[in-house]
Amino acid sequence: MKVLGRDALMYKIRKLKRSDFTTYYENEVSYYKELLENPAFGIGTYGKKIKKKGIKAAFSKLYKRAASHNAIVVVAENDAGRMVGIGELQGHAWAEAPHIADMGFSIIKEYRGKGIGTAIVRQLLKMAKGKYEIVTAGTFSRNTASKRLLKKFGFKRWAFGPKFVKRGKLYMDTEIFYLRLKNSHKQPLKS
Ligand SMILES: CC(C)(COP(=O)(O)OP(=O)(O)OC[C@H]1O[C@@H](n2cnc3c(N)ncnc32)[C@H](O)[C@@H]1OP(=O)(O)O)[C@@H](O)C(=O)NCCC(=O)NCCS
Repeated sequence: MKVLGRDALMYKIRKLKRSDFTTYYENEVSYYKELLENPAFGIGTYGKKIKKKGIKAAFSKLYKRAASHNAIVVVAENDAGRMVGIGELQGHAWAEAPHIADMGFSIIKEYRGKGIGTAIVRQLLKMAKGKYEIVTAGTFSRNTASKRLLKKFGFKRWAFGPKFVKRGKLYMDTEIFYLRLKNSHKQPLKS
């Protein structure tokens, strides 16, 4: 699917491919650098130093889960064919929840605020219909962009976790959002 970004450039939203690993790795390294600069950054590594082996294992797991239909993974590609963002729906979020998928998304720094996250979430929700009934998403309370993105698709706050994350001396509040896919909610036309 092709989408027009707020920067008037075209982006392609497509499924994850095995050959995406190199760019996936570069993107993960860039998120890690952001985390080092800003300990409150929305993506974490659970206190561990990032390693290529670990990223490779995470990519391989993600790719296999997508290939075996236990996850839906889409990426955004810029006009030069570079992957600039990724979104995923992980099925079987917990035991006895085959109807629930947990969503995650990230866009590399230079490409944020252009509508790419919106396009990714829209595509994930489209692909989730008929497969899942509820989509959940966890975020830090201070992650305004993430919360804005979820709310514009009708996600409701389900849980608030005061100081549920601790990074060194920094505590962060977390929130879990959910969206019911049954009874076909209306997705906004705005991109
Ligand atoms: C969260 C994230 C995926 C959003 O993707 P994005 O491509 O920047 O989002 P969009 O451009 O589609 O914008 C989505 C909405 O958020 C708003 N938004 C975007 N950046 C914002 C910011 N820095 N502050 C406040 N609102 C913001 C947009 O205005 C838009 O709302 P609108 O359509 O009502 O105007 C992106 O910021 C990101 O990757 N952040 C770092 C990683 C991360 O935090 N991932 C989520 C973990 S829970």
